Amino acid sequence: MTTRRPGEHARPLAVAVLAAGKGTRLALGDDAPPKVLLECLGVPLLEHVRRAVDHLRPDTVVVVTGHDAQRVESWLAASWPDALSVRQIPQEGTGQALRLALDAVPDFRGDVLVVYGDVPQVRGADLARLLETHRGAAAAATVLSGRAEDPGALGRVVRGAGGAFVEIVEARDAVSRPDVLALTEFNTGLYAFDADAVRPALKDLSRENAQGEEYATDAVNRIAASGRGVASVLAEDPGALLGVNSFDDLARAVAAVRRRIASEHMARGVHIVDPDTTVIEVDVEIAPGARILPFTHVGRGCRIGKGAAVGPFARLRGGAILEAGAEAGNFVEMKATVMGEGAKAKHLTYLGDATVGAQANIGCGTVTANYDGRRKHRTTIGARASIGSGTVLVAPVTVGEGARTGANAVVPSGRDVKPGETVVGVPARPLPNSEDGSRRRSKEREEKS
Ligand code: UD1
Ligand code: CA
Repeated sequence: MTTRRPGEHARPLAVAVLAAGKGTRLALGDDAPPKVLLECLGVPLLEHVRRAVDHLRPDTVVVVTGHDAQRVESWLAASWPDALSVRQIPQEGTGQALRLALDAVPDFRGDVLVVYGDVPQVRGADLARLLETHRGAAAAATVLSGRAEDPGALGRVVRGAGGAFVEIVEARDAVSRPDVLALTEFNTGLYAFDADAVRPALKDLSRENAQGEEYATDAVNRIAASGRGVASVLAEDPGALLGVNSFDDLARAVAAVRRRIASEHMARGVHIVDPDTTVIEVDVEIAPGARILPFTHVGRGCRIGKGAAVGPFARLRGGAILEAGAEAGNFVEMKATVMGEGAKAKHLTYLGDATVGAQANIGCGTVTANYDGRRKHRTTIGARASIGSGTVLVAPVTVGEGARTGANAVVPSGRDVKPGETVVGVPARPLPNSEDGSRRRSKEREEKS
């Protein structure tokens, strides 16, 4: 979905991401992350914006930071290294933020797309449509607007005769203009500009308004007043383009992004029984035909193979991998663990830093004790091994292929269980003649019957 198709000569594109605001209604604690770094399905809000922006393959990206700038800058350095960042301290309005962004790229000429850093639901397609409209109309400015019965505190789009764009008026500046407040078309705050048109329009913006701030909307209004064309495009799902300003907004955004991720997996043939109670974070790979049962959480970077089943009430995290046909049932948590083909852990189990061989069976209540208080250690369970209910495997430890542990066994670290061996007890010891164990058990069964 790039805007530049092969052979097409497109104008240069810069994207300005406004991310300086504090999010005062979020009442975040002192060491809470700044708003744009709040998590949404395994990554910060800003990462969702980065992905949408990335679709456009812009030539330049400038992110305006301000509140908690240092933390946002270090995230940018690690996760969006080709973005420039500029600081806006203090934050005196969207107009000032946009001016600072453009001042950071003084030689840039072409199109400038403006997007906020706190809109995780924004999609590359929304941005592409805004840019296409802007370029198609050869406009000096293009506003992405939305419709709502009552747009509340949002800026209203005022139109004149024949629907021509006149101005955007902030709700707080329209208290004495009921006709304006009654308008249903609002400004989402996403725009496309011609850089040459917007630079002069951002100079000496007035602060004589209800918020005492420099308004980006005033730059749009100036362009319109100068007689240069202001185009607009109506967003299909404008609610999705509104910033996260409260925990309620955040929950709504997370729910929407979660539903979208689930839908993408279902469209590829993954059977998600109840997407409303299933959380699948970003960057999860699930093979078609896998089944995800209700109340399951699959963390970023996990991989689930063909025919595998997860849940109900399972939690996969830290890039856990289920190979084809593997199962993680109710109340199973897996962290940095690989379950081999057809291996099963069906109930009440913690598998951390473990490798489970193909067809192994992990009994109910098994725990890998992977943390000794200072470091994490690995557990390796061989193919076809059978781990008895309630076994504690104290890592680092290896259970060989086809080996067995008895119910409630505690296998101490370093006391590896040999292939085929059966161990029981606390600490676990090999059962005498354990290789004969299965023969003896079947004999016992015969005697009982
Ligand atoms: C702005 C628009 C309004 C629109 C609304 C949509 C203006 C004057 N008004 O409202 O018409 O309906 O967005 O949400 O632009 N930010 C900065 N620096 C600042 C101020 C804001 O980076 O100095 C960033 C914020 O972090 C946020 C975004 O800009 O991501 C919007 O700021 P916010 O205060 O929520 O928007 P308004 O100005 O109220
Ligand atoms: Ca504001």
